[in-house]
Amino acid sequence: MTDVIRVSADDPDPAAIARAGDCLRRGGLVAFPTETVYGLGVNALDRAAVQRLFAAKQRPASDPLIVHVGSFESIAPLVSHVPQGARRLAEHFWPGPLTLVFPRSAQVPGEVTAGLPSVAVRVPAHPVARALIHAAAVPVAAPSANLFSRPSPTQASHVIDDLDGLIDLVVDGGPTAIGLESTVVDLTSDPPVVLRPGAVTIEMLQQVIHVQMLKGFGTRDSERGTRDGDREIDVSTEGSPSAGPVRLPSPGMLEKHYSPRATLTLYEGEAHSALESLLRAARAALAEQKSVGVIAAEEDRPAFEPLESRDTLFLRLIGSRDEPAAVASRLYTTMRELDAAGADVILVHGFPDHGLWAAVQDRLRRAAAGRIVRK
Ligand code: TXA
Ligand code: MG
Repeated sequence: MTDVIRVSADDPDPAAIARAGDCLRRGGLVAFPTETVYGLGVNALDRAAVQRLFAAKQRPASDPLIVHVGSFESIAPLVSHVPQGARRLAEHFWPGPLTLVFPRSAQVPGEVTAGLPSVAVRVPAHPVARALIHAAAVPVAAPSANLFSRPSPTQASHVIDDLDGLIDLVVDGGPTAIGLESTVVDLTSDPPVVLRPGAVTIEMLQQVIHVQMLKGFGTRDSERGTRDGDREIDVSTEGSPSAGPVRLPSPGMLEKHYSPRATLTLYEGEAHSALESLLRAARAALAEQKSVGVIAAEEDRPAFEPLESRDTLFLRLIGSRDEPAAVASRLYTTMRELDAAGADVILVHGFPDHGLWAAVQDRLRRAAAGRIVRK
């Protein structure tokens, strides 16, 4: 049985938090809200509990977990060395949606780090997450609280949909604000490398330290400089676009992730041609009696008017192209809604590539798993 306790997001009931903290300390699996997505927490120092967590999520043991702590000072027992830049990044972005990868100490079980010599650490900002970490009084390893390869949960009902009966407790603090997972920066390489874009954007990081984007992420190599309006986002402060580090993605990043059940195709490039191409695909799929989910921007509305009467077309105008934060916060819910509606295919009109859009685009490209039409 999975219990759900509802708490206020800003001022959670101490008794509820004490119960959840207790459950964590005793080796339980507790889902809780962070400002990014819901995490599935476990005592990071309890090997058996960590193994139960991997089993519940059906997560491959090769995919390392993020350890959540209450402050920069609390990372000391987990890491063997604090690389340059860590403190400055922490001062700017912790607590918040930034995960930093450090060389790990011997205290961190290999189950948490998938055997890697490094450990990922984050100090979350959400009051419920902070209170829970404090109450548990142990470092809390927490992946996103979804079944492996499902979109990350942004509300408690998503956690229940995936993990009911498999975990002990869900602390329901309402919907999460950001809606996409944290930015991951690997501080064990020089210069540090952004492994996963998130709400702490590349541009924000570049203001504080010199970082590079993992080559291949958030970029359209073949199209560099050919489009107006879009800024390139992966260039290091002085490097040329092609001079980024060539390096394997972190474990877990090779997997097909963030996927809805329906087949998702992403249409990107020149806005008008991409939209035309998407519309053709939508008409073709409808003609084949398929249910078609579409994710597009508010601004695309007129293009869909001729199709709006079709009852097997599920149109989700997810937000304005001027509001990346709104689109980010709705992305995973929208994918889950389209799955629940029974969409056979999901067609997505892509977004720009700068700032927070880089994170949106990164998740869309992973969900598309190679089904990307570039116009
Ligand atoms: O926002 C978030 O980061 C959420 C909340 C709950 O904090 N957590 C989350 O965890 O998204 P998860 O497990 O779904 O993604 C963690 C990713 C791993 O897939 C892996 O790619 C990377 O972080 N990671 C973890 N440890 C790492 C390490 N030692 N080296 C490189 N990458 C690592
Ligand atoms: Mg995840």
